[in-house]
This record gives sequence, C-alpha cells and structure tokens, in this order.
Amino acid sequence: MAIRKIAKMGHPVLRRPARPVSDPTAPEIRALVADMVETMEDANGAGLAAPQIHEDLRLVIFHVPAERASDQPDDRPEPLTVLINPVVEPLTEERELGLEGCLSVPGFVGAVPRFTKIRYSGYGLDGERVEREASGFHARVVQHECDHLDGILYPQRMEDLSLFGYVEEVRRALEERGDAQRVEEAAD
Ligand code: NI
Repeated sequence: MAIRKIAKMGHPVLRRPARPVSDPTAPEIRALVADMVETMEDANGAGLAAPQIHEDLRLVIFHVPAERASDQPDDRPEPLTVLINPVVEPLTEERELGLEGCLSVPGFVGAVPRFTKIRYSGYGLDGERVEREASGFHARVVQHECDHLDGILYPQRMEDLSLFGYVEEVRRALEERGDAQRVEEAAD
C-alpha cells in the first residue's frame, strides 16, 4: 500500500474518459484499490476516482460518513464502497445545489447542482454486481466520483460561478449568514 500523488485540475488524466476495467477481480486492481483507500484516508476525502491518482481506469471508491448522512432511507451512512465500471442513472429530473470540494481542486469549494435521486450499479472487487439507489449526500458523492471517469470536474457542472470560491472565504460568508455547517458537506 502506498499514498499516491493526486492529479490536479488541468492535468490531462482528469480531462479524458477513463478505460473500462477488464477484470474487476485481478490482483492489480485489488492493489490499486488499497492505494486509493490509503490516499483518500490520508487526504480526508469522502471519495476518490482512479484518474485522480493517474490511473486511467473506470473505478471509484467512496463512503458516506455518519455526519454527512441524512434521515432519508437511501442516504444512510455507507461503509467504504468500491465501484468498478459504474453506471449512474437519474431517477428524477429534480436537482439541488450543494457544496462540493475535490482533492484535485484543492482549496476551493463550489455549489453544484446534482440529481437528488439516482440508481447506480457496477462491480465490486469480488466481481459481484452492486446495484443501489441513493439520495442526498450519497447520490452527490457518487455523481461527483463517476464524473471523474468521464473527464468532468465539478466546476464544469456549475451553472453559477459566483458560487465558486476559496474554502475559507465561503466558510466565512456562510458563517455570517448563520449557515456554517454547509461548508463541511463538501464531497471528495
Ligand atoms: Ni473529485
């Protein structure tokens, strides 16, 4: 296991679609996931996509920490999930704004519109198919991570760039409005 270097916005590996994983059960995929977990935990992220550590593969990891979960039935805390060759399908037209950060865009946060309810599927390291429905933070983190596999970073999803800023400035602005907890909701 090793902590890997994280690619930053502007690097070509973050701008192109990643390649499908041919065998989710391959030992090198297991080793890559171990590095991703260590890198994500070191950086205190909620998720990580393989291209963020310079691996051009359709593979993401994420978790839903208890403090970010809501009382919605499909937004409960989730332990670490490995999702290989994921597919995301919106279950509603409804989107909501929420703050996101990204380990590849350090120091910034932005308010990003995301579908409020999705279904996602993919494969685990055991080769078993995973299929779940998600809402709230759970849906947001999955959409954020899977966008990385298509070369999309969250600022590209923003419709109002006046809601993009340095973490400390956004936190201060929200605190002045009595809305401090929202900045802690940022995703990976
Ligand atoms: Ni990210």
